[in-house]
Amino acid sequence: METMPSPTPPKKLNPKPHDGTDAELSKLGNNLVTKFHVLMRISQIYDSKNVALNQFINEFLETVNTLIKENGVLSLKIIKDDFFLNEQRLRYSVEGFTSFKYLSTQWKKRLIGEVIFKTLMGEESLRYFIYAFINLEEGREENADLLKKQLESHQITSIDVNPSEIIEGEEEAFTLEKEDHREVGKKIFFETIGTIKEVITNIKGNQYADIRKLKRLAQKAIHLVIEDESILLGMTMIKNYDEYTFNHSVNVSIYSLAMGKRLGFSKKILTELGITALLHDIGKSKIPREVLNKPASLSGEEWEMMKKHPLMGVEIVLNLKQLGEINPRMVVGVFDHHLMNDLSGYPRLFLKKEVSLFGRIIQIADSYDAMTTPRIYKKIPYTPEQALAVMLREKEVHFDPLLLKIFIGLVGIYPLGSLVLLNTHEIGIVYKSNHDPQWLDRPIVLLVDRDTEGGATKELIDLTDTDRAGNYKWSIVKTLDPYKYHIDIAKYFL
Ligand SMILES: [Fe+2]
Ligand SMILES: [Fe+2]
Repeated sequence: METMPSPTPPKKLNPKPHDGTDAELSKLGNNLVTKFHVLMRISQIYDSKNVALNQFINEFLETVNTLIKENGVLSLKIIKDDFFLNEQRLRYSVEGFTSFKYLSTQWKKRLIGEVIFKTLMGEESLRYFIYAFINLEEGREENADLLKKQLESHQITSIDVNPSEIIEGEEEAFTLEKEDHREVGKKIFFETIGTIKEVITNIKGNQYADIRKLKRLAQKAIHLVIEDESILLGMTMIKNYDEYTFNHSVNVSIYSLAMGKRLGFSKKILTELGITALLHDIGKSKIPREVLNKPASLSGEEWEMMKKHPLMGVEIVLNLKQLGEINPRMVVGVFDHHLMNDLSGYPRLFLKKEVSLFGRIIQIADSYDAMTTPRIYKKIPYTPEQALAVMLREKEVHFDPLLLKIFIGLVGIYPLGSLVLLNTHEIGIVYKSNHDPQWLDRPIVLLVDRDTEGGATKELIDLTDTDRAGNYKWSIVKTLDPYKYHIDIAKYFL
């Protein structure tokens, strides 16, 4: 008996992009976006004949041609904020975030929505295409047509472009820029504060505290710190003294991670360091609120109680089962964080020992954050610069001099968040330190100004910039006290 052939489903004319699960395509897609991003950036720096470009062109070509060989054609398309590779939506990781955002911003600015590579590509056509692309005028509606014509006039028929699809209410989408990267930072920062608050509250009430979420957040923070530490470092300027303990734990963790990164720690060790720093004061959850928040100095008895928090912290950490395998580094780090370099701190030891590396790192981060945060008993804190001066005076006795040097490299000679007067009589806030150690005194500065409606404007200047004669355009004359100028530094970092 013959069976009836099952009817073939009608072919959709315009298949809707779907969330595919093709891991390989997704990996290649991420690779493609990253390479496209790098190539666009490089071509904005060098002219099309520059040899520095060759390597990046070839790397991009390799990815493009691999994809074409496998799929016959390569279409990269943006719909809203998502990229689709041959109709499959590409998911991106935190590491890929910069590339995705950069590319989507650049495409949207030029109103290009899709690029199709139809046949195997050669070096020359790709080079021509990239320069034609970056030279498109921003916001011009005919860009896709113009680009097509330009390609045709150069006998390049292997590339096709389409304009971006205008979606209602999305016109302002191309103003994304780096702000989104900052959004990720903000999310991690505030979520971690919320989570550490939950953990501390549960431990206080002798309830089950789930710290797996804390671990996940620490891992996300590490990705971001590795990519651009300045975003999370900037968040440490948000000092909230009602929620001191939570805010403080997160800040200490950010500083510690940034130091760990500079020390070349692996991601695994960084995760351990991040969690240890988040939990360094967990022992305080067993100290009564009245003692912790006492506006006056502590009595002898209260001080003795306070000094027990590192040891109580060790006990708590050892009981946190979900930490999985607890590395001794973490436990010792909590125990050591007030020992001081010469062991003059607490707890008092019967036997001499070396302060652990985690302990020494956290101690620097801890002291700096504590000094620069307003507290109930010290409403006007040290400025970042004053805090560093105190720490430098106490170096060798209290801190590991080498680590302190690394920390200063991190926050700069003019630490992040310092209010500074420039030789142009403008006032600015130190926003980001320059990575090159020779420019520790020439950070990136945010000019403090107001627009016509009185809102704070955000103009970033790089103090290494020079004029035509080779003179620096701006230099720091001195630091200023933000409290005297009634400037809320934190606002500029949000
Ligand atoms: Fe502490
Ligand atoms: Fe602390």
